Amino acid sequence: MNGRSSSSNLLADENGHLRSKEQGRKREWVPRLSRMLILFIVLGLGVLLGVMVSLHILGYFEGSILGGRCANGFHNWLPTTKPAQGWFLPSNLQHGMPDEELLWRASIGPHRPGLPIKRTPKIAFMFLTKGPLPFAKLWERYFKGHTDLLSIYVHAPPGYRLDVPYSSPFYGRQIPSQEARWGEMSIIDAERRLLANALLDFSNERFVLVSESCIPVRNFTNYLQLQFGDELAGRSITWVDWSRGGAHPATYNKNDIDLNLVRRMKDDRGCVLFGELNQPCWFFARKFAPSSLEPLLALSAELFAPE
Ligand SMILES: *[C@@H]1O[C@H](CO)[C@@H](O)[C@H](O)[C@H]1NC(C)=O
Repeated sequence: MNGRSSSSNLLADENGHLRSKEQGRKREWVPRLSRMLILFIVLGLGVLLGVMVSLHILGYFEGSILGGRCANGFHNWLPTTKPAQGWFLPSNLQHGMPDEELLWRASIGPHRPGLPIKRTPKIAFMFLTKGPLPFAKLWERYFKGHTDLLSIYVHAPPGYRLDVPYSSPFYGRQIPSQEARWGEMSIIDAERRLLANALLDFSNERFVLVSESCIPVRNFTNYLQLQFGDELAGRSITWVDWSRGGAHPATYNKNDIDLNLVRRMKDDRGCVLFGELNQPCWFFARKFAPSSLEPLLALSAELFAPE
C-alpha cells in the first residue's frame, strides 16, 4: 500500500527527474512564505522606525523648548525611578499653590525619625526683597563652593523678575509672591510664604531670613560651624547700628565702608558659643545702601577671611 501511494505521487519534472507532488507544492510555498515574511519584517521595521522617530521628535521638542535642555527628552515619558525623591525634595519653586495650600503642605512633618531618601542637610537663605538684590555679587562670593549645602528663596514683588545669569545661585529661586509692605501684616505673610516654601524641602534644617540691605560679615564656613542651641536663643546674629536713633537703624553707603567698619562688625567677640567665651557675635549685618557694593566687594577678602 505504501509503495502504490508513493508511486502515484511521483511526477517527472522538465528534466525527466522524478520527484514527489509534495516537494513541488513546497517549492511553490517557500518563495510565497518568504515573501510574506519579508513583507512583515519590512512593515514591522517601518512601524518601529516611525514610532521611534516621532517619539524622538516629541522628546526633542519637549527637552529643548519646554524643559530648556536637550539632554534627556525621554525623561517625562518614563516613570520616575525614585517617586519619593520629588515629594521630599521639590525642585520647581513655581508650584502655583495658593497660600492656604502652601502653608498646609509646609506644616506636614514626618511622624517617624529618618527619611527613606538620601539627603544633605541644608541651610535655607530666604531673601525678602523690594525688587533687585544689590548685594547678589557679595552673596555669590559668600555661597561659592557651598551651594550643595544651601538653598535660596527669593520673595520679590509680584511680576518682578530677578535679573541674574544662569550661573548664579539666585537663578530660578524666586517663589510665587504677593505685594508686601513694611510695617503691615503683608510683610509677615511674605515671611511666612518664604518659610513655607523652604519647609517644603525636607533638606532644609536652618532658616536665615535676610532683606536686600543685608550682607554677610563672616565666611560661610564660620556660619556652618555655628551650633544652634540655648546660647543663641533670643539673641540676634545680625549686626545693626541703632546709634543714630529713630525707627530705622543707620544705613551705610559707599562713603561709610572702610576697613575700620569691617573690623568693627567682626571684632565684637563678646559672645558665648559652644560654652566658650569671647566668640564672634555677628555673622550678618544691615543696613547697607546699594552704593556700598563696590567697596564691600573690594573688602570681601577681609570680610570672609579665615579666623
Ligand atoms: C572661612 O573661615 C574658616 C574658619 O575660620 C576657614 O577655615 C576657611 O578657610 C575660610 N574660608 C575662606 C574661603 O577663606
